[in-house]
Amino acid sequence: MPRSVPSALARVTEQWATLAVEAHFTDRDAWMPYHERVRDSLARLVGARPLEVVAMNTLTTNLHLMLASFYRPKGERRAILIEARAFPSDRHAVASQIELAGGDPKRDLIELAPLPGEYTLQPAQIDATIAALGERLALVLWPGVQYATGQRFDLARIAAAAHAVGAAAGFDLAHAVGNVPVDLHDAKADFAVWCSYKYLNAGPGAIAGCFVHERHAEAELPRMAGWWGHDAGTRFQMGPEFRPTPGADGWQLSNPSIFALAPLRASLDLFDRVGIDALRQRSLEFTGYLASVIDAEFADSLQILTPADPLQRGCQLSLRVRAGRDAGKSLHAAMHARGVIGDWREPDVIRVAPAPLYNDGDDIARLLQALREGLS
Ligand SMILES: Cc1ncc(COP(=O)(O)O)c(C=O)c1O
Repeated sequence: MPRSVPSALARVTEQWATLAVEAHFTDRDAWMPYHERVRDSLARLVGARPLEVVAMNTLTTNLHLMLASFYRPKGERRAILIEARAFPSDRHAVASQIELAGGDPKRDLIELAPLPGEYTLQPAQIDATIAALGERLALVLWPGVQYATGQRFDLARIAAAAHAVGAAAGFDLAHAVGNVPVDLHDAKADFAVWCSYKYLNAGPGAIAGCFVHERHAEAELPRMAGWWGHDAGTRFQMGPEFRPTPGADGWQLSNPSIFALAPLRASLDLFDRVGIDALRQRSLEFTGYLASVIDAEFADSLQILTPADPLQRGCQLSLRVRAGRDAGKSLHAAMHARGVIGDWREPDVIRVAPAPLYNDGDDIARLLQALREGLS
């Protein structure tokens, strides 16, 4: 938790207690434009123009909102491509949107698995699959960093491949934002969504983010609309017509929770101070060092599933115990008992992520010692 979060939350309760509804307008930290205060920092983190980003809802909600606008199946063009073993919520969202559009996920949901014997995907394999789907393909939804393997993808390459066959490209940045530099605007992504409770440290159930490329800012895209997405200048005239605010703001549904925005603002202050490039530099050192020691000392018992190429990963390393799932579970428990907090992902993955904002060399030494003791 960023140390300034308790005072940021206390400030909101103080405004509430003393100003009540007037806190929307009269205070120097007025609630009405509060979401504007996270916009520029979020835009910097995801390589976007300010108009292209908004903090709202949660990741899965935003994904549904984006799919409602960007998944427009027509004729033969009905397929959505995702990675096999995508995060379940993404798969649920995509499958349910296909059904809502009158399609059949068995036919229209395509899941790309690694080649036999491999854990991660070859970039050329993704290009070839998109090209082969061709006019059947309506949309590609891809992670920035895959949650189970830690594989990082080249968003510009995937977006270009999708656009080349006439499909839209959307990204789930849950494990990428605040972890690796992201360049959504230049990558020409159509949309992206992310949560803020992983590397962004904005707290449990923190408010999520959404990106819509500038080229769609004024487009008359059908959407699931709400009053907060209506033109901010006339919203309170309470008219019946919906006229969207240009840009990502036009997808807002409701007035946002200030209690969710305040911790995000507090956390973004830290990212603004340090900058994602400096964090990435340290992350490359930490994760590179960790991987090299694991390879040198534990190669007989541990397999690193995450690509060895630093460009194809962020902080995270996904580890598999060669002796099998039970041995993996006991290693994870042994690490946990020694105060090393990674996590276990079924069926057999231990994820560890030295996060440069708050981990240091001592933490990595403790992690390695826990591996040594746990494996012995
Ligand atoms: C890759 C990925 N997608 C989607 C989600 C779901 O996020 P939310 O609970 O905010 O909808 C998560 C949550 O951990 C995730 O890791």
